[in-house]
Amino acid sequence: MKATVRAHPNIALVKYWGKRDEALILPHQSSLSLTLAPIHVTTTVEFGAQADTVELHGHAAKGSERDRVLRLLDAVRVQAGRDLGPAKVVSRGDFPMAAGLASSAAGFAALAVAGRAAAGLPEDTRASSILARRGSGSACRSVQGGFCEWQRGERADGEDSYAVQRFDAGHWADLRMVVAIVDRGEKEVKSRDGMKSTVETSPYYPAWVKDAEAEVPRARELIAKKDLEALGELCERNAWRMHSTSLAADPPLCYLSSATLGLIQHLREQRKKGVPVWFTLDAGPNPVLLTDAAHEVAAEALARACGAVEVVRCVPGGDATLLSEHLF
Ligand code: PMV
Repeated sequence: MKATVRAHPNIALVKYWGKRDEALILPHQSSLSLTLAPIHVTTTVEFGAQADTVELHGHAAKGSERDRVLRLLDAVRVQAGRDLGPAKVVSRGDFPMAAGLASSAAGFAALAVAGRAAAGLPEDTRASSILARRGSGSACRSVQGGFCEWQRGERADGEDSYAVQRFDAGHWADLRMVVAIVDRGEKEVKSRDGMKSTVETSPYYPAWVKDAEAEVPRARELIAKKDLEALGELCERNAWRMHSTSLAADPPLCYLSSATLGLIQHLREQRKKGVPVWFTLDAGPNPVLLTDAAHEVAAEALARACGAVEVVRCVPGGDATLLSEHLF
């Protein structure tokens, strides 16, 4: 009745931006990501506890944060088809939460896999991905390592909306992602609210959906060929298009800061000098740089020269895995 899982966060190369179903967390378009190591979240779940308790990163979770965790475990109870009693959850991450690398993706992936294992359910990546998705959309892509594609699906019940691994972490071991933290502040508009307002008010949103869906198979081909330059260009244009559709929302949503733009400008100049480095950007000001192992030190130096207060260097990460040591 107790299980512990370690999962890595992921960074989308083709972003997910906008839900067609808010309750089930179903996206309008497919997306594609890379799982990132060595950073990770470890989560222990135990059923049959005294009372429901949720501790996240050293603090007792409250309000909607706690509710989201307990709702996911309710779905595990339904899958188990029996009364598992109250649950105790403890979760800890080892990376700066300000990184803008939503710890929620790794956290909900770890929670889904650990929840199923604690309930005695068999390992099942598809079922875990669907469960993780219901905690936070991008979490469905953190159940497995390497390059994962979240297929939007068509069904109203979401049973065909989950992530599948296209290439494992070993496929392109030389690839590097460098997280450049230029701004530690909490973002003003959470992804959840930002994407909702974009879906509802941006006249460019339908164009985003069509374009992003078409970029997924292109990205897959470039990853198969390990074509860093073409993949870097695709990542940049996909990030710009996600931010453009948000800028066109009413009221406009701008996640970029002057530091973000300064870094992007500098990166372009470096590229002209032959440094192979591109960026992607989630719903926040901190760019994530895409490069290869030979240039990760140069990418870090570039980020620091542009005022990055913290830099996290990442390599392709593996699957969410069960650990024999528990957090309590
Ligand atoms: O899963 P959420 O609600 O944290 O949304 C993630 C949205 C982006 O990070 C901007 C894009 C993505 O695909 O991860």
